[in-house]
Amino acid sequence: SEEDLQQHFDRTIGEDQRIEPRDWMPEGYRRTVVRQIAQHAHSEIIGMQPEGNWITRAPTLRRKAILLAKVQDEAGHGLYLYSAVETLGADRGELTDRLITGRQKYSSIFNYPTLTFADVGVIGWLVDGAAICNQVPLCRSSYGPYARAMIRICKEESFHQRQGFELLMTMMKGTPGQREMVQDAVNRWWWPSLMMFGPPDAESPNTAQSMAWKIKRHTNDELRQRFVDMSVPQAEVLGVTLPDDELKWNAARGHYDFGEIDWTEFKRVVSGDGPCNVQRVAHRRRAHEDGAWVREAAAAHARRNTSE
Ligand code: ACO
Repeated sequence: SEEDLQQHFDRTIGEDQRIEPRDWMPEGYRRTVVRQIAQHAHSEIIGMQPEGNWITRAPTLRRKAILLAKVQDEAGHGLYLYSAVETLGADRGELTDRLITGRQKYSSIFNYPTLTFADVGVIGWLVDGAAICNQVPLCRSSYGPYARAMIRICKEESFHQRQGFELLMTMMKGTPGQREMVQDAVNRWWWPSLMMFGPPDAESPNTAQSMAWKIKRHTNDELRQRFVDMSVPQAEVLGVTLPDDELKWNAARGHYDFGEIDWTEFKRVVSGDGPCNVQRVAHRRRAHEDGAWVREAAAAHARRNTSE
């Protein structure tokens, strides 16, 4: 009966076991997992654009090869995630359609422009750093295919983060102009990186239920604090200043205090009115339309192979 199924599901979650595609699950659980994984997949794919912008202008062949590989990794992450969400019966074409018609979200962070090559380094350091903070605990997410996809993604993500840090270290050892470029990029990306973790817990409609279902393992504010604590000493090593006058160690809490995030900006960017939202979605839509012939050819090929 439905009641037995629910009990079995609750016990599986309670014992920290995984929910697998063929298991019974409450409709709300399925909907939440589909939503989160789809938004995550879209973020990886849209996230190729800000850095892709610098592939043709990377300063050396080595930097260009690294950046190409990194952007390809993001495509791979998107593909594992779309595959994970397909295990729940979602259709990838339909999800893409929702993305390019603005009906499904992707991370706010990718709506900011990459103005100089230092932005490539700062995305690696801060944006990928925030992504790791958020995603390492998702390796223990209760939905099996999601958790398993996260393991490989996190390994690659931590490589990306070191890549960014190494790039910035190199620039910080360069000319005063290069150091200024790094500081300027840090000033522009710091606050948007903190917004990646989502709204404050008190205003997060999904956190409590997602924590109870163990889809999420920590709240938005917990992970944001963890990210701040980890970034401050790294900024010191780099020799950059984080743009927040209120940032200081609080011995009683054992954490860094930090200033108020501009939640109005966050809401504006999430609702489609950030600096690059229109451009990002238009580019994705164009790439999808330009690729129509590939999908048609692949489908025709598959049909012929199965009928033979
Ligand atoms: N950008 C865009 N939308 C956001 C962001 C953000 N930074 N933060 C929260 N939201 C959205 C949520 O998706 C949710 O959307 P809904 O209208 O579909 O419900 C809404 O704002 C309310 O937020 P929450 O209740 O806090 O939502 P949730 O529990 O899903 O938590 C979070 C948001 C933390 C982003 C979670 O979904 C998550 O951990 N996702 C996996 C990681 C991920 O997607 N990373 C993408 C960027 S990293 C990268 O790709 C390199």
